[in-house]
Formats: sequence, C-alpha cells, structure tokens
Amino acid sequence: MASSAAAKLILLGEHAVVYGQPAIAVPLSSLRAYADYSPSDRGFEIVARDLDQRVIDFDADDPLMATARLTLDQLGQVFPSIRIDVHSDIPIASGLGSGAAISAAIVRCLCDYFQMHLADGIINDIVYEVETYHHGTPSGIDNTVVVYEKAIYFVRGEAIRPITVRKPMRLLVADTGQRSLTKVAVGDVKRLVESQPQATQDTLDRIGVLVELARETMQQGNWLALGKLMTENHLQLQALTVSSPELDRLVKVALDAGAWGAKLSGGGRGGNMIALVSEASSSTVRQALQAAGAVRVFETVMGA
Ligand code: PMV
Repeated sequence: MASSAAAKLILLGEHAVVYGQPAIAVPLSSLRAYADYSPSDRGFEIVARDLDQRVIDFDADDPLMATARLTLDQLGQVFPSIRIDVHSDIPIASGLGSGAAISAAIVRCLCDYFQMHLADGIINDIVYEVETYHHGTPSGIDNTVVVYEKAIYFVRGEAIRPITVRKPMRLLVADTGQRSLTKVAVGDVKRLVESQPQATQDTLDRIGVLVELARETMQQGNWLALGKLMTENHLQLQALTVSSPELDRLVKVALDAGAWGAKLSGGGRGGNMIALVSEASSSTVRQALQAAGAVRVFETVMGA
C-alpha cells in the first residue's frame, strides 16, 4: 500500500511566522501525496510522472532524491534496488504544502520498505531540511503540520502546540490557478523588512496579535470573530505585498457572498485563498467563487 502525507492550509500568520511571530495551520487530510515502491532492475530511482514527467536517478541533485538520501542516512541503509513512484493530488506551488507532503510520503515509503520506524520528530527534521531546497529560510510550519497532521499553533523553533477545534469549522479553498514560488514572495518580504523596517515590523507584530486572538476564537468555536481576524490578516498580507489582484478579487467575492472571513493562504501572489463559511452560506460562496473565475473550489470541515 502507498505511503502518504496530507496537504496543509495556513489559517493565519504566514510570512510573519518567518520572523518569529506565531501562525496557525491545519492539515487537509483529504488531499494527499503518495509514494509507493516496487522492485527495479535499474537500481534506485524515483519516478514522479504526474509532477513533471521526471525520472530521477540516485545521484541527481534534486529535492526528492535528497529526501531519500537523508532518510537512508537516518535508517543506516544504502540505496536499495527499488523504484519509488510518487504521485500527488496536491497542486504544486499553490500554498498547500505539496513539496513537504511529497517529501514526507517518500520518507514513510522508505521506512515501509525497510520495515523500520522513524519518529515523527526525525521525519519532520528530514522534511525541513529538504524544504530549505525550495526556499532558503523556511519557518518550518509546512513540514510540521504535514508530518504531524494536526491543527497547530506554531512558533519557529518552539515545540508545537496542537489546537483543539471543538465545533465544526468549514472552509472553502479556492484556487486562483496561478502558480507562484514561495521563495520569491518570501524574498520580497525580506527586502521590505530591510527597506522599511519600522512599518514592516508593525505589520508583522499586528499579524502576531491576530494569530493570538484567532487561537482563542478557534478554541471557543467563535467563527464570526475568527472570520474577522482572517480578513484583517489578508489586509496585512496586502501590506506585505504578497497578495495579487486575483487573490484580492476572490477574497472580496467570498465576503460579499456571505463568508465570515477570507484571506490568501500560504506564500501568496497566486495559489489558494480560503473562506470561512457556515453550512448555510457555503454553497452561495462556492458558486460566487466559481463565477469569479476560481479554477477549483473545495470544502473542508475540521473538528466535525
Ligand atoms: O506557500 P507555502 O505553502 O509554502 O507557505 C509557506 C509559508 C510562509 O510563511 C510564506 C513561508 C514559511 O517558511 O513559513
């Protein structure tokens, strides 16, 4: 059976989390990356057909192969003669943590092949190291939520704190269809921190406050209040220059159609936005997002 790992959504706090502010992320267990092994007479290789038709040889300088190398080091094993087939339902470069999920699936697949166990903390370290291939200074939130597959309150460098979602929390996830590299947006925020230190620090601090408040509202199940915090977080992300006209449009459309709150999720500049909705407003908001050009909208309910 294939090993797998879930996608993730950042509810609040992306980008600011890189600078030590807290953030909240949740797993998207219905959307997953898979890795499966079979015997190979070509030595070890990873085949990622649905990503970009890649067949990756064992000596390639590639994040997927780096994952395998780091895992084998931890397991004390050498490259076995197997082929690992990777496939993912998670759109790439869209803020859903596809890179981290693919890495975690590969680690678990190798553990499965050798019938060995690695603790989640070690898997998390491996996936984090591979994340640094995608962009130099990841906060660690993506790998953490993907590996532990739990709703978490996350502060860089600190132990994770799971969040209990007591009442069903309903989110629509809408894709702008535009792909964007997290490292570009992260680099632009870094330049903003350098060129406008005071104003940018104020924005990052405000995001931190929003996340603290959001954590309380989540634990109370106060979705109206959480929605307002999410929408304000979107405004702060605009100030950090990581939104886009398409994301702004989908956020406005969702709010006009009755969502409690809406914001971009993840690196921004494209990718996905999220809208917090009630059971009653969900289909109206979904239709409005589709009519406004979202290429894909799906619903996820947490704490149900
Ligand atoms: O675009 P994603 O899903 O990789 O989101 C990354 C979240 C950021 O806060 C923008 C970067 C980070 O390392 O935390």
